[in-house]
Amino acid sequence: MSDNSRAYPADFTFGVATAAYQIEGAASEDGRGPSIWDTFSHNTKGVLNGDTGDVACDHYHRWEDDLDLIASLGVDAYRFSISWSRLLPTGEGALNQAGVNFYNQLIDGCKARNLKVFVTLYHWDLPQALADNGGWAHRSTAEHFAYYAKTVAELYGDRIDTLCTFNEPWCSSILSHLYGVHAPGNTDLDLTLAVIHGQHRAHGLAVQAVRTVMPDLPLGIVLNCQAIRPASDSQQAKDAAQRHDRFHNGLFLDPLFKGHYPPEIVQHLGNRLPDGWQDDMESIHQPLDYWGLNYYTPEYITDSETGDEPYPNAQRVERQNVQRTDIGWEIDASALTELMVNLYNRYPLPPCYITENGAAYNHGLVDGEIDDQPRVDYLEAHLQAVLDIVAKDIALLGYFSWSLMDNFEWAEGYSMRFGLIHVDYQTQKRTFKKSAYWYQNLMSHRALTSPG
Ligand code: FCB
Repeated sequence: MSDNSRAYPADFTFGVATAAYQIEGAASEDGRGPSIWDTFSHNTKGVLNGDTGDVACDHYHRWEDDLDLIASLGVDAYRFSISWSRLLPTGEGALNQAGVNFYNQLIDGCKARNLKVFVTLYHWDLPQALADNGGWAHRSTAEHFAYYAKTVAELYGDRIDTLCTFNEPWCSSILSHLYGVHAPGNTDLDLTLAVIHGQHRAHGLAVQAVRTVMPDLPLGIVLNCQAIRPASDSQQAKDAAQRHDRFHNGLFLDPLFKGHYPPEIVQHLGNRLPDGWQDDMESIHQPLDYWGLNYYTPEYITDSETGDEPYPNAQRVERQNVQRTDIGWEIDASALTELMVNLYNRYPLPPCYITENGAAYNHGLVDGEIDDQPRVDYLEAHLQAVLDIVAKDIALLGYFSWSLMDNFEWAEGYSMRFGLIHVDYQTQKRTFKKSAYWYQNLMSHRALTSPG
């Protein structure tokens, strides 16, 4: 190794990540029940071009080849999610044996290829039957989730390396119930607060239920904490950034890691939280073995123009003349380091994995090859930041690239490509991009050259 190289710790875990609805397809095969994403993609105009996850990457039928691709990258781990309604078609009751078999094969396939298994229970695909019964705002959904979590632990816990309750509860509450961008597409603050609280309850109950059957299984949750910066030096912008933090980060971090909602939230919105919320806080606040951070972009915040929101009265500012990926997200790896330092100063956090990081670039095939150099640059910058974080003695245990392959990017449909591996949706052919070769090379060296 040359003098100017920086190595990752010997036991650092590298992986790639996906999610069930984004890749599996086979949406109505082998007894899978519908989820809110089937309904949203089919019955609303919420997804660009009317795209759906009906076929997606057809991973349900191609999982073996896909696992071979993951293994050929040389990574240590595969992070994927289980489709709740493939195991339990209505979210409760009898198991769907075909679904049980699918994930058994997938997990055994990972083990056979020496891949660690990072399982997410909820990556946004609530069984439609539970949504029809009131969804996350209905208290019984949390109990059904705990049953589902325990079932997964009983079925697969002996072969799972980590289990995550929720992926980005901000998206499955605020983005989907306040901003209306994701399924089920509501725009209602009271409903949003009930959903947030319902998901927190579900998380706490699931952790407790899993520990009754698999006490040693490492458990955690994945958050997309926002890397917030004031848009200017003005006191107004700084105050707005702080309010924005309390709402978009604190609503999640404080209950999970401190056992209460942020005082500012209680002061401004306490009367809009579901009745009796105080009695649930102890159950929500469970010790966790790890947490996951999904990081893509920083946010610049100033006070809101209208000032008519109940809280936080803040808004994002799109900065001019900055580098962005094809989805429009500003690129800044320094905000990742800043965010991690800030969070570990403020919260008693367990060790962390960066469970998602990556870039949308829509390069296509030219002479059979995909030259996605901007994605390589993005990954390299963020993997340098990972080394900066490790050097600060923050317990960062691993990094997962989003994503293994191009897939159904939620409201953007198939228009945004995040994969290391290109997918031709007509033929389902997979092709390594330049970034996949770059990541593969990193896996064999486990070090980067110092920048500058
Ligand atoms: C995250 C999601 C993931 C993917 C990336 C781009 O918010 O967890 O499924 O859509 O963004």
